Amino acid sequence: MLPGDPTPEQRVARILRVDHAGEYGAKRIYEGQLAVLGETSAGPVIREMVEGERRHLASFAEDLAHREVRPTVLLPVWHVAGYALAAATALLGREGAMACTEAVEEVIDGHYARQERALGDDEPELREKIREFRAGRTRAPGHGARGGGRGRAGIPGAQAIGAGVDPPGDLAFGAGVMVGRGSKMQEQTVISKGA
Ligand SMILES: [Fe+2]
Repeated sequence: MLPGDPTPEQRVARILRVDHAGEYGAKRIYEGQLAVLGETSAGPVIREMVEGERRHLASFAEDLAHREVRPTVLLPVWHVAGYALAAATALLGREGAMACTEAVEEVIDGHYARQERALGDDEPELREKIREFRAGRTRAPGHGARGGGRGRAGIPGAQAIGAGVDPPGDLAFGAGVMVGRGSKMQEQTVISKGA
């Protein structure tokens, strides 16, 4: 460990703060989708996803309290931004919502995978939880990356150039990637500022 490097406790505190914010954002995204698509055939699956994210969020909130770590000060930003993004892409229809979900989850999955590697043999319980929450992302049927849905490959325009363009699908996917990347940048800001 070099001088200035975070201590193991600081490292875990950062991981928990970022994950808590991520689960909060995910919950808001699915709540935004639910507001638009709740009464459609996609409603039950989205409702299930909201419940899943609420459980993840509660679990990280418990960890924060237990270890006396402050949540990020940026939660109000995600409260609005996640919901607005989701509602806007959901207005494009079920496929739009799925494209958004898939893009966001792709980014979050990569993020959790890096955390798992970074934790190595430290904090086995936290690592196991991250692994479990990651696995949950690909199990629930019928929506985006969780299987059952057509996924990104099934969205015309996100799939192949020249095979016809689907502006709503592209737009939703692009918006999802942007919010995913944006949340990652914000996480890095949180980490560097120790917010
Ligand atoms: Fe989650």
